[in-house]
Amino acid sequence: MIEKTLILPDAQATHDAGQALGAVVRAGDVVALSGDLGAGKTSLTRGILAELGLEEDAPSPSFALVIPYSPPQLRLPIWHVDLYRLDSPEDAEELGLDEALYDGALVIEWPERLAWLWPQTLRLHISLPADGPRRLTARLSPSWEERWPFK
Ligand SMILES: Nc1ncnc2c1ncn2[C@@H]1O[C@H](COP(=O)(O)OP(=O)(O)O)[C@@H](O)[C@H]1O
Ligand SMILES: [Mg+2]
Repeated sequence: MIEKTLILPDAQATHDAGQALGAVVRAGDVVALSGDLGAGKTSLTRGILAELGLEEDAPSPSFALVIPYSPPQLRLPIWHVDLYRLDSPEDAEELGLDEALYDGALVIEWPERLAWLWPQTLRLHISLPADGPRRLTARLSPSWEERWPFK
């Protein structure tokens, strides 16, 4: 497992990082995005969705928990998931998240609400220090090592 770090000086950098990831994401991928409220998880996901062809600004799935996107709106089916309001890990069963992975990818905010994660998960964490810029830390599973689009 390799760890990488990226500085996100402003909101545009977060969106750009999402776009770079959107360019390499493929069916079967799981991107887990952790970090405090307001860290930039939805902003990064919007970058992924924009790169894959979404023209409008994606709403946050905080209430819906899952917002699915599919072709022709997007090049690749993506389920944008926000588990902040998931009451217990067992409730995730009903969301049927595995179904997304047949032909698409999952981007999951608040993945720590689940009791487990898929082994191929790309784990991203955005930290929000009191002083200084936000920082993206990535734990790359083997299938991501060759695709990581940053230095
Ligand atoms: N790197 C950054 N530096 C400063 N502000 C940022 C950065 N990335 C995102 N933001 C801003 O932070 C706010 C919260 O972002 P959001 O994506 O909704 O957070 P989350 O989904 O993690 O709760 C937004 O106003 C966004 O523009
Ligand atoms: Mg969010």
